[in-house]
Amino acid sequence: MRIADFALERYFARWEFAVEHVLGASDVEGWSMAELVELADDETRAMWNGLRLGYTESTGHPKLRGEIARLYDSVEADDVLVFAGAEEAVFCLFNTSVEAGDHVIVTWPGYQSLYEVARAAGAHVSLHALREDDGWSLDVDRLIRSFRPETRMVVVNAPHNPTGMLPSEADWRRLAEACAQARIRLVGDEVYRFLEHDGAATLPAAADLDDRAVSIGVMSKSFALAGLRIGWLATRDRSVLDRCARLKDYTTICSSAPSEVLALIGLRARDRVLARSREIVAGNLGVLDDFFARRAEALAWIRPRAGSIGFPRLVPGGPAGSSADRFAAGLVEKTGVLLLPSSTFGFGDSHFRIGLGRTDLPQAIEAVDGFLGG
Ligand SMILES: Cc1ncc(COP(=O)(O)O)c(C=O)c1O
Repeated sequence: MRIADFALERYFARWEFAVEHVLGASDVEGWSMAELVELADDETRAMWNGLRLGYTESTGHPKLRGEIARLYDSVEADDVLVFAGAEEAVFCLFNTSVEAGDHVIVTWPGYQSLYEVARAAGAHVSLHALREDDGWSLDVDRLIRSFRPETRMVVVNAPHNPTGMLPSEADWRRLAEACAQARIRLVGDEVYRFLEHDGAATLPAAADLDDRAVSIGVMSKSFALAGLRIGWLATRDRSVLDRCARLKDYTTICSSAPSEVLALIGLRARDRVLARSREIVAGNLGVLDDFFARRAEALAWIRPRAGSIGFPRLVPGGPAGSSADRFAAGLVEKTGVLLLPSSTFGFGDSHFRIGLGRTDLPQAIEAVDGFLGG
């Protein structure tokens, strides 16, 4: 298989564990093991204490799949397949559901594997650009107009990495309906679901809107448990899961036994887990509102509607300069604060990704303030 480098991951590989503050991260500050285990109920505590480190069920622990299914309205445990993170789910989905000559539409800028794996599988990929001049909105009419007879899949990441886009529920339902009518599979990358800001409602999951649609989920982002490497696909179209399970036999075979139990603990305690994540993100959004208001001559941003990421832009001629690559390089060299320049998304040189989920954000922003001077 030939596949282009994952630019964002290569950038992280260089810097992520060598810097003081990862301000470009997409996840929420991870739980400590001790705090997470404290959340266990009687059953999961017994599972944890009695855990044997053998192979696990290839599709995922039945109790874990059952708990994941509860995140949806019309999904059962057998409509869920567990993977090593959303990344393996994406890899297996595209490699088994699209083939040479298929057309796939993917929101953009975006998480590279959502279009790169499809391309590597031989698909023609159209990138559906979100419109910054319209608040990073998803233009559903334009998206529907871009359907072709050979379109097999429409992939929408919402809440969106890196812009924080969240479509209206009416637009989202309209898109799902148009996909269903055209026999196009809608794929919702919903890894930031449940992190909606300012009272915005959680969208219905793709898998609940159409019986062929697929939802991608993970413990890494809203659930703040990235180290578990537990993700999943949920769909009522079991033929999709069956094909993925056959490929998974060649990737990881089955999930990590401790991670499955810890994910189950986190999901059963999801009210507390999500409340913690929302509190961290809301606090950081407040810090950033103040920062961007004070630094308007250097940086402009469209406040994310959901998720744990924003995508600010350098103001041309302003004190941050006009190259995001140079700004990020200077910042990390001088202060040890890591941002992700938009070149890692193949999206020009004017934007950078900023993460809202880490508890050291106030210190990191103080360092950025010092770097900007004035
Ligand atoms: C939109 C999107 N999908 C999928 C993933 C993959 O998630 P994980 O790294 O937990 O497998 C990410 C991670 O950043 C993401 O942002």
